[in-house]
Amino acid sequence: MSNSGSQPFSAVVLAAGKSTRMKSKTPKALHHIAGQPLLQHILDALVEAGAQRIVIVVGHQAELIQSTFGDDFEYVLQSEQLGTGHAVRMAETLLAGTELPIIVVPGDAPLITSAALTSLLSTHVINDVTLLSVELVDPTGYGRIVRAADGTVHSIVEQKDATSEQLKIREVGVSIYAFHPGFLFAALAQLSPANVQSEYYLTDTVGIARSQGRRVNTFVWNDPDVGLGINNRIELSAAASKMNARIVRQHQLSGVTVADPGSTFIDKAVKIGVDTILHPFTVISGVTDIGEDCTIGPGVRISDSQIADNVRIRDSYVVSSEVGSGTTVGPYANLRPGSVVGKNVKIGDFVELKKATLEDDVSAGHFAYLGDATIGSGTNIGAGTITCNYDGVNKHETVIGPNCFIGSNSTLVAPVNIGESAFIAAGSVITEDVEPSALAFGRARQTNKAGRAEKFGRPKQ
Ligand code: UD1
Ligand code: CA
Repeated sequence: MSNSGSQPFSAVVLAAGKSTRMKSKTPKALHHIAGQPLLQHILDALVEAGAQRIVIVVGHQAELIQSTFGDDFEYVLQSEQLGTGHAVRMAETLLAGTELPIIVVPGDAPLITSAALTSLLSTHVINDVTLLSVELVDPTGYGRIVRAADGTVHSIVEQKDATSEQLKIREVGVSIYAFHPGFLFAALAQLSPANVQSEYYLTDTVGIARSQGRRVNTFVWNDPDVGLGINNRIELSAAASKMNARIVRQHQLSGVTVADPGSTFIDKAVKIGVDTILHPFTVISGVTDIGEDCTIGPGVRISDSQIADNVRIRDSYVVSSEVGSGTTVGPYANLRPGSVVGKNVKIGDFVELKKATLEDDVSAGHFAYLGDATIGSGTNIGAGTITCNYDGVNKHETVIGPNCFIGSNSTLVAPVNIGESAFIAAGSVITEDVEPSALAFGRARQTNKAGRAEKFGRPKQ
């Protein structure tokens, strides 16, 4: 596990709950925002903050969660979901005897940042419990922080257990804590489910610490979103848009122009070079790298693709493909998976590529389907060119050499090879290979019959 943060710690992540309020077959931890499962965002923050060990408490669909996140993490099963306190207790066998502070985070708060975790740790040093708190305009659903007359933390009261006076408190706990390990497991053994939900509440460890005269402190974090817990799909979309705003802002601060952050969606794993401009209604997802000085949008969707420098793409789709520098794409082009486009290529309107390699300086300006094809550098693809790659049973390849001219409305019936510098006459149906530098006609000769137009109602000249 990497260790870029300030102090070593162990972490327990709570992800065993049934996620009832999501009304989903998929566990909450595996719902996505910004292209990654909710839990992945939390694990990223923990790793970045320097977690030495991360124990994930799993229950509902445990195997699915375990297979998704793999062996970098430790897992412990909570077979019955008896509450957040009970969930943390499940990690005791793995963490018994540890000297490191234990950070506990919920598995449903994807906006947690490593900065918040490192700050929490640095104020925790001499405490038994330090909890992150935030002030919310609407604290509904969260545990309220009840303070004693001297301002110290007295306890946390859950929404369902709170009095009407306590419900007015706007300072809430967001289920992010740092614990002294010795205190944590001793306190968990003392929890009782004597509350409205008959659960073992992790929040009750705060009251226990207080009653034992131990050191309890809060760390008030100024960004209330950090603990935004996702319980239903309304909160899921709210978190997604906050995460997107954060990602867009990060790119803007690193030198990317984003004309309209509200209509631009960028996944977490996307990289974008300086002086690239993103126009409105643009969605960049998956593992995508975009170079410098590009102009992307309006109306572009790019996923899992590599775009080099100085590329211009508008009103188009690019999926699992590569685009070389200086190339222009669109409007209304569709680059389907496996397309590799070289430098200074021109792909114009209504051009569809599928598993096509276009070498440098190819021009396919208008209306074409190029599938399972390789096209050599400098070749011109006329409007309406179709590679017939499918015979109804199998797919076949079209190979076109460099510096060819493929006349408009050519039908290239694969498998077929067209040699270097060949010229295909417009309207040809090409079913046989064409040797280099040859001129190929694949159509009937035109016949003109003098005066016969009159028969079809044309005025006599
Ligand atoms: C919890 C806190 C509340 C806090 C809020 C912040 C308690 C009792 N309440 O409430 O003070 O303001 O989070 O979002 O701790 N889980 C398990 N096993 C269980 C129960 C829950 O692993 O037996 C996991 C869930 O999967 C979830 C997390 O713990 O990831 C929090 O549980 P949830 O039911 O969402 O708690 P809240 O009601 O939101
Ligand atoms: Ca929650």
